[in-house]
Amino acid sequence: MRPIAFLTMSDTSGFMIYDQLLYAPLSARGFAVEAVAWDKTGVDWSRFEAVVIRSPWDYQQRPEAFMQALRQISAQTRLENPYELVAWNIHKGYLGDLEKRGVPIVPTLFMDRFEIRTVRDYMRDSASRKHVVKPAVSANADDTYVIWEGNLNAEFLQTRFGPRNVLLQPFLPAIQSEGEFSAFFFGSDLSHIILKTPRTGDFRVQEEHGGQLRLVRKPESALVEAATNCWKAIMPHPLYGRVDLVRSDKGFLLMEVELIEPSLYFNMDPDSPERFASVFDRWMEES
Ligand SMILES: Nc1ncnc2c1ncn2[C@@H]1O[C@H](COP(=O)(O)OP(=O)(O)O)[C@@H](O)[C@H]1O
Ligand SMILES: [Mg+2]
Repeated sequence: MRPIAFLTMSDTSGFMIYDQLLYAPLSARGFAVEAVAWDKTGVDWSRFEAVVIRSPWDYQQRPEAFMQALRQISAQTRLENPYELVAWNIHKGYLGDLEKRGVPIVPTLFMDRFEIRTVRDYMRDSASRKHVVKPAVSANADDTYVIWEGNLNAEFLQTRFGPRNVLLQPFLPAIQSEGEFSAFFFGSDLSHIILKTPRTGDFRVQEEHGGQLRLVRKPESALVEAATNCWKAIMPHPLYGRVDLVRSDKGFLLMEVELIEPSLYFNMDPDSPERFASVFDRWMEES
């Protein structure tokens, strides 16, 4: 058997991890999976043929230590997704790069730091009444706020964001009326698409915030096309990735591409573990 590691965290309690569904199909192809916490010390990573980043969902608390761990792994064996790609994807400035490559993104003002004057100016010139401010380095919708003229609290936001880079966007109402689509890609192949809808009264679609998930069995062609176009802008294709899209009057817009540690929701589509295993097998032969 060929040993591979799934990078996870030391305390997984309270998290929904579905990567065990890959163990059997990977084993059938000769791979033995071991789950290893990213911050475990003294690991000889070179004994794995590859390390696949899967569920290190506490890394936001220590992003520098996490990146350091990835550098170490990368020096000893093959890391999926690769270090450089992770480093690019950790800061939402990548959205600007994708826009330059022709991907329609949610309109975004990138700010080096939160500045109330800039925010007010942007909101005044915007066709939307509500907007969203959020940090450029984030996950789980942490520090993500809906703002409008009537609730703007400069002091609060200033304190929350501190010196961090910040994104300002119009609030997309489809998030609440329909939800956010997530398309999962393995290598160059689209595997499955899910729809995440927020709890009534909330705008955050994440499960942790009470959001609901369902498999989109027959995705409309415009959705498949938008997801695929976005994925095409990320070359060479990595082993795995999640593309988040929201409907707008200008078509589907990119909210986020997650290339670090997206849950791939193997539980939502019974064929997806086989699909991943088969792409992974080819992946390991080709490069
Ligand atoms: N412009 C927006 N309009 C409406 N909802 C938004 C907007 N930006 C973010 N959200 C909500 O906040 C969530 C988190 O934002 P996102 O950009 O995906 O960052 P992350 O998932 O990395 O925290 C989204 O899934 C969505 O529910
Ligand atoms: Mg998101």
